[in-house]
Amino acid sequence: MKKNTKLYETVAALLAPGKGILAADESDGTAGLRLAMVNLPNEPENRQDFREILFTAPGIEEYLSGVIMYDSSIRNFTDDGVAFPDVLTASGIVPGIKVDLGTREIHGFKGEVVTQGLDNLTERFADYYNLGARFAKWRMVVNIDEDDTPTDEILKMNCVMMTRYAQIAQEAGIVPIVEPEVIHTGDHSLELAEKVTTKTLQILFSTLIEYKVDLQGLILKSSMVLAGDKYAEQTSPEAVANATLRTFHMSVPHDCAGIVFLSGGQTPERSTKNLNAIAKMGEQPWPITYSFSRAIEEPVLKAWGGKKENEDKAKEALLEACKANSLASLGKL
Ligand code: 13P
Repeated sequence: MKKNTKLYETVAALLAPGKGILAADESDGTAGLRLAMVNLPNEPENRQDFREILFTAPGIEEYLSGVIMYDSSIRNFTDDGVAFPDVLTASGIVPGIKVDLGTREIHGFKGEVVTQGLDNLTERFADYYNLGARFAKWRMVVNIDEDDTPTDEILKMNCVMMTRYAQIAQEAGIVPIVEPEVIHTGDHSLELAEKVTTKTLQILFSTLIEYKVDLQGLILKSSMVLAGDKYAEQTSPEAVANATLRTFHMSVPHDCAGIVFLSGGQTPERSTKNLNAIAKMGEQPWPITYSFSRAIEEPVLKAWGGKKENEDKAKEALLEACKANSLASLGKL
């Protein structure tokens, strides 16, 4: 297989030590849930204002290597008429794009979902490349329900589709982030979360290898291994770090370019502490950092509250959140 070395330049930029990736790629619907946290209506102007705060905060390039956008935001502009991807590129931040089209339930498989979005993906990637995107994200969702969910059948189906996405991305010169999110809500134990995450990642990487995806030009976005949020015993950062790293060592080949974490609905403080505990465990075969959405955006939304006069405060809150997570990615919090 001929390797596309341009992918490695992007990977190296994205995984620069002490930096992370902001996932600002909420669909228009999900962006509404974020705005609702500060009682703002889900209108295009509010979505644009919030993204403009995130993308133009002075100094973020010290901590952020990349930003993932959604279709409507990669086509959007600042109030001064600069395209969002151009704003990011100008500060040395790599623009990225979420390309999956969300999940659907599957007849006959209660509680499981499959990710949509392969149709016309080659053409969509060409368009996104022209708009400035150099990396992409595809998320699959794994729900845990005692012994019977997830099923091997649906894990395999999702992994094949994710692999097809990764192939098309690499062909287009775009680094694929593969994101199997094991959902943290529920009453499952840490042990079950570890078992399911390990199995998911094993199936994913064996499928990626089977279909000749170049792992050196690919980034894994993973959940941390956590007991369900309704499980009686919540997990300490050290226990999360041990379970998460055990999982990776059982499933992620060493030539995978790197691993970034989603926050998965943990509080910002908890996500950062867990990341710090993982980094403190010492050097791993892969660079490991963060790619949070809610854990970074929540304090920014709260500082902003939709008010023009609070924009500078919101940008400071963003810088503070990114700095804390960047320090945590080095185990220096
Ligand atoms: P959270 O950090 O809010 O989990 O989001 C990350 C992400 O990219 C989810 O797809």
